[in-house]
Amino acid sequence: MNTFVKNAWYVAAWSEEVGRELRPRTILGEKLVLWRRSDGSPAALVDRCPHKLAPLSVGELVGDSVQCGYHGMTFDGSGRCVRVPGQSVVPPTACVRSFPLVERYGAVWIWMGEPALADPQRIVEVRRFGEPGWGLVSGQYLHFKTNYLNITDNLVDPAHTTYVHKKTIGNAAAEDVSVKVEQGDAHVCAYRWVNGSEPVPLMKAMASFVGPVDRWQYYYLHLPSTSCVDFGAVPAGSDHGEAERDSGFRSFSYNFLTPETETTTHYFWLHLRNYHVGSSDADKEVARLMTATFEEDAAILALIQQEQDRMGVREFVRLGIDNAPARIRRMVSRLQEAEIQVPMKLDPGTAGAAPCVSA
Ligand code: FES
Ligand SMILES: [Fe+2]
Repeated sequence: MNTFVKNAWYVAAWSEEVGRELRPRTILGEKLVLWRRSDGSPAALVDRCPHKLAPLSVGELVGDSVQCGYHGMTFDGSGRCVRVPGQSVVPPTACVRSFPLVERYGAVWIWMGEPALADPQRIVEVRRFGEPGWGLVSGQYLHFKTNYLNITDNLVDPAHTTYVHKKTIGNAAAEDVSVKVEQGDAHVCAYRWVNGSEPVPLMKAMASFVGPVDRWQYYYLHLPSTSCVDFGAVPAGSDHGEAERDSGFRSFSYNFLTPETETTTHYFWLHLRNYHVGSSDADKEVARLMTATFEEDAAILALIQQEQDRMGVREFVRLGIDNAPARIRRMVSRLQEAEIQVPMKLDPGTAGAAPCVSA
């Protein structure tokens, strides 16, 4: 059994990645082909022709439809076959599964599960997005060679920052500060305040604190795999409320994890900040530092995946810092079990290989 949750919105691509050409992308182990129709709407089909299973992505976009590169069967964005060269009758099973898509926050979101449940209201809210006074770095992508749950573990684990990120966002002051955990119906939050500490390297580079700071990390994980890290600092001794944090040094870092396979993950991220807004130099510096930070995570998590594969186990010893990751894994397991009990209602049309459904 795989570890995927299907009834959820995932970022399939940044909006600018989806254009008038065929883009293959694997999501939740399923090979897909993405493109944009001439009215601007995106489309996604299973990347497999129901004739001889040729990948549709190596065919051609003809008008708003995809033409198979082997014998020319042509499918529109809903997966309906609109042409079979050499015959006038289209076999009723000649269709390809399509997927509900929504464009929001500069990204194309895809629903891989039961289409009837694809409510756009369930797309996670990106706080401060589009608000005045907030700078945005978006369109960022990394490929992680690890299962997405190893990344969700990492993203609710402030304790690793001291060791993995000493060159970027961590320092030793946080080492012994314990992490608190809160849980809601569909999220877990691990957080801590490190009071009266030296600003971390990122703050030294980007802010002008004189003296020590009270700094926070709130690591939210919205099920199954969207992370929001609320990170910042106020001068030591300040109040810690929302308004004070908004007027201090603050950022929201959103990481949208889209499982590619059991051992690889698409890592889309965007970053909102309330400092140096409008500065393209600061945008570049944030992109550079965040990329460096996430590459530090990617390196250790790829090594962990290799060892998990080799040993066939995920961990030997459970520590106190594993509280939030363990909660997420339990909640994800419950979502998966619920999906197994309620199988998807897809038309079993096309030889079992690619059941049809309209977006
Ligand atoms: S394999 Fe696609 S038309 Fe034959
Ligand atoms: Fe990290």
